[in-house]
Amino acid sequence: MSDNKAELTIDGKTVELPILTGTEGERAIDITSLRNETGLTAYDPAFGNTASCSSAITYIDGDKGILRYRGIPLEAFAAYPNFVEVTWLLIFGQLPNRAEYERFSRQLTENANLDEDMKHHFAGFPRSAPPMAILSAMISTLSCFHPQLLELDTPDQFEQAAGRLISKIRTLAAYTYRHSRGLPYIYPDPKLPYVSNFLHMMFSEPYSTYMCEPEVLNALNLVLILHADHEQNCSTSTVRMVGSSRANLFASCAAGVSALWGRLHGGANVKVIEMLESIHGGKQTAREYIEAAKDKSSGIKLMGFGHRVYKNFDPRATILRSVSEQLLNKLGVTDPLLEIARNLEDIALHDDYFLERKLYPNVDFYSGIILRAIGIPTNMFTVLFAIGRLPGWISHWHEQNSDPKMRIARPRQVYTGNPLSEYVPVEDRI
Ligand code: CMC
Repeated sequence: MSDNKAELTIDGKTVELPILTGTEGERAIDITSLRNETGLTAYDPAFGNTASCSSAITYIDGDKGILRYRGIPLEAFAAYPNFVEVTWLLIFGQLPNRAEYERFSRQLTENANLDEDMKHHFAGFPRSAPPMAILSAMISTLSCFHPQLLELDTPDQFEQAAGRLISKIRTLAAYTYRHSRGLPYIYPDPKLPYVSNFLHMMFSEPYSTYMCEPEVLNALNLVLILHADHEQNCSTSTVRMVGSSRANLFASCAAGVSALWGRLHGGANVKVIEMLESIHGGKQTAREYIEAAKDKSSGIKLMGFGHRVYKNFDPRATILRSVSEQLLNKLGVTDPLLEIARNLEDIALHDDYFLERKLYPNVDFYSGIILRAIGIPTNMFTVLFAIGRLPGWISHWHEQNSDPKMRIARPRQVYTGNPLSEYVPVEDRI
């Protein structure tokens, strides 16, 4: 192996495979020619060791606990959290200048309303429908109401589509909640910025306007920022996979919502609260829960712990832990679940099982405590994750679609089924 080539010898034949080096020095063997040259494919279930693309959006060093958006460390956004600014940064590659920021903010304001006909769709869902199901369906439905944005041929069309989707997801999310409670839909208020407008549509009533502390807005902006991108995670890879068939932006992001829903991914934020509540309710102690999570036969995991990439503290969890403490203090709220979460973390971080496997709290461990304090119901937590992750999905969809070498994503497999078998007519089957 030289610096930029690896040699692989198979059946006496040696092939040279190029080595790619990323900006931060991480290296990958380029196996695109492997099958042509050797007839072999690479086997990597769950893509644990596969770089599915090269990307200039987000950098993670999982061993050191580093996360950067377009080169900027996550921690830099904590002082003045502004989700709209980070959205632009991720999608368009740099922090917006004043004119870009104002144009994008205006676009978000002007597109916050849903087509009135779209609202009728909510009535077709049962009140008890899972919010993530409604969100995915309604994002897909946007394709029907914006047919002019299905083919995005120019930068301007892409900006229009991205702005619309970023703007409308919060209206869809708020109306999903209002529908589940049988409450009237609240129109967006053009005077309000992005996050305040979302909370207004969630919690205002026709006879009273929702008001909140600036700390709540800062905390929610920060929560959304911390979820905004995480390179090739399950939902983002889904968006890329769907988009690679040239499916439109709405359809691709709707698929991302479905992928995010699962409890091993975004759905973990709901499961964390259920876990904390079950300990609070006395079903078992924190220690008993940890013991069950270590026992593979129990089917239980310590939710909000562990990560495919981080083998160190997830920097998002570190920030969220301190924000949750500050916000609860500011609001004068005592949440017994915070104490239980801290206790679980403490026990786990002194337990060989978790230390040996390098399992640390992830983004979902403390986010729910913050959302609860803001008044967001638990079944909406993953929807909030989706609002946060949308800029990431859009950025990756755009990056992929802007690549002239883009091909449809189509993995191979190692077939392990029956060998060549005979068809047996039904009357002859035993
Ligand atoms: N509780 C108990 N054991 C765990 C946990 C956990 N939360 N996470 C991993 N392990 C064990 C796992 O059983 C395995 O043990 P062994 O080596 O003895 O077989 C070892 O640690 C390595 O784990 P893995 O299953 O190979 O890890 P993975 O990369 O396939 O899965 C994960 C990562 C996040 C799905 C997993 O850690 C997990 O299920 N965590 C709980 C769910 C969760 O919090 N998900 C949110 C992830 S972060 C935000 C997001 O992506 O949405």
